[in-house]
Amino acid sequence: MKNMKILIFSLLVTIFITPFSGAYAETVNVPDAFTVIHSRKSVRNFTGQTVSKEDLIKILQAGMAAPSAVNKQPWSFVVVTEGKALKLLAGKLANAGMLRKAGAAIVVCALPEKAYGQRRELAIIDSSLAGENILLAVEALGLGATWTAAYLYEDRMTAVRESLGIPENVIPLTVIPIGYPAGDNKPKNKYKPENIHWEKW
Ligand SMILES: Cc1cc2nc3c(=O)[nH]c(=O)nc-3n(C[C@H](O)[C@H](O)[C@H](O)COP(=O)(O)O)c2cc1C
Repeated sequence: MKNMKILIFSLLVTIFITPFSGAYAETVNVPDAFTVIHSRKSVRNFTGQTVSKEDLIKILQAGMAAPSAVNKQPWSFVVVTEGKALKLLAGKLANAGMLRKAGAAIVVCALPEKAYGQRRELAIIDSSLAGENILLAVEALGLGATWTAAYLYEDRMTAVRESLGIPENVIPLTVIPIGYPAGDNKPKNKYKPENIHWEKW
C-alpha cells in the first residue's frame, strides 16, 4: 500500500512538472554537443528538398548565439531559399556548385562598422564564430552544409554582393549551402596529439 502511494505521488509529480519543463521538451531527441561537434562534416551533395523556415530560424538563432568582441554582434545574414536564386549564385561561384541542389543558403556577412573599434578583423572573427555555430546547428538538425569562401576573393565577394544587393561596406564572408544530405558523408578524425603543447610550446 505504501509503495502504491509512492508510485501515485511520483506519477502526479511527473504529470505536473513535465509541461513546465521547457528545457526537457527542447532537448528531447537532440544529440549532445560532443556528438554534434564530432559528426559535423562538409556536405556537398543534397537531395534538393527544401529546408523549413522553422529550421532556418533555429539555425540563425544558433548563429547569433555566438560570442563576439565586447558583444558587438557585427554580423548580418542573408537567407536565400528560392531555387532560381540558388542556381544563379551557383552559376557565379565555381567553388559553390552544390548550391544548385541545396534547399537554402545562408550568407554570413561581417559588418566592420558595428565591430568593436570598427575593426574589420574583429567583424571577420566574430562572424566566423557565428558561421561555425550555423554549421553545428545544421548538423544537430540532421541537415548538411559546407562553408564556402567568399571573403578574401574579390571576384566572389563582388558576385555575392551583386546577386543579393549587399552594400559595399558589408563583407560577404561565406555562402553556406544547406540541405538534406545525399550520398555518403563522413566526418574526418582530425585529432592530432602533436598539435597540442601542454603548458608551453
Ligand atoms: C575558410 C574556409 C573556406 C572554405 N572554402 C570552401 C569552398 O569554397 N568550397 C568548398 O567546397 N569547401 C570549402 N571549405 C570547406 C573545407 O574544404 C572543409 O571544411 C575541409 O576540407 C575539412 O572538411 P570537413 O568540413 O568535412 O571537416 C572551406 C572551409 C573553410 C574553413
